[in-house]
Amino acid sequence: MDLQLAGMVVVVSGGCHGIGRAIVEAFLGEGARVVVGDRDAAAGADLVARRGAAADVAFAAGDLADPAVCARLAALAVGRFGGIDVLVNNVGRNDGVGLDGDVDAFLGSLRANVGGAFALLRAALPSLRARRGAVVNIGSKVAVTGQGGTSGYAAAKGAMLALTREWALELADDGVRVNAVCPAEVWTPMYEQWLAGCADPAAERARIERSIPLGRRFTTAREIADSVVFVASPRASHTTGQVLFVDGGYVHLDRRWTPTTS
Ligand SMILES: NC(=O)c1ccc[n+]([C@@H]2O[C@H](COP(=O)([O-])OP(=O)(O)OC[C@H]3O[C@@H](n4cnc5c(N)ncnc54)[C@H](O)[C@@H]3O)[C@@H](O)[C@H]2O)c1
Repeated sequence: MDLQLAGMVVVVSGGCHGIGRAIVEAFLGEGARVVVGDRDAAAGADLVARRGAAADVAFAAGDLADPAVCARLAALAVGRFGGIDVLVNNVGRNDGVGLDGDVDAFLGSLRANVGGAFALLRAALPSLRARRGAVVNIGSKVAVTGQGGTSGYAAAKGAMLALTREWALELADDGVRVNAVCPAEVWTPMYEQWLAGCADPAAERARIERSIPLGRRFTTAREIADSVVFVASPRASHTTGQVLFVDGGYVHLDRRWTPTTS
């Protein structure tokens, strides 16, 4: 299937590592031009250098919780490639701000995990409207299952799903589609790092894998990216306000079949 993404301009927040990086590579594979925002300046420079000959990647370094950095990222896309067709709000971190944290920590988590997405959409909106573009928000299972000990992240990801509906409606008359892709357990460097801190990483990994009905394995970042690319593409032209769970059935299938003990 031709996804009709060749030449389109895609902005990806947090595109240097993990799921964001897989999303960047998947769009490049479809012939799109990609503008990446990430706080890892060295990884961003490396990405641009690697695509040197193709000149199809631009990079802005900075903390995307800061609206000024979001504005700079959107301006880079417009300045370098002439506009924005797709925005992927991927930045997010399960920062463990729970009920033992104070209100400032909670609000800080909201600012980092959803405030930046709001700021980036506002910055990209004139261009998205002009091009009748698409937005994809990256959610999390935590928005619908909870996790414990992570009030800020849960609230922010819940907001991302609510905003997917809110923005889809508000922007429908402009022809801008807004959808979300919701991962549960995706094998990324961040996940590997978190697992390394567990008392028995191998046992914890096996326990998590047993809880995923389809294949008893983690979702790959590429599997998330492929769904993002499709739902962002003109081939999904009448799909908006949807939350697509790409999680091997983790969230919705009967737990009777997903024992977490061996
Ligand atoms: N990995 C999972 O299992 C999983 C599960 C559910 C949801 N998610 C969501 O998927 C998205 C990507 O997660 P991941 O696992 O790939 O994370 P990751 O930590 O591996 O990668 C995140 C990327 O974003 C960048 N980044 C993070 N915060 C930033 C900020 N404030 N400003 C600029 N750059 C920033 C990092 O440098 C990195 O390149 C997040 O929204 C996360 O909440 C991941």
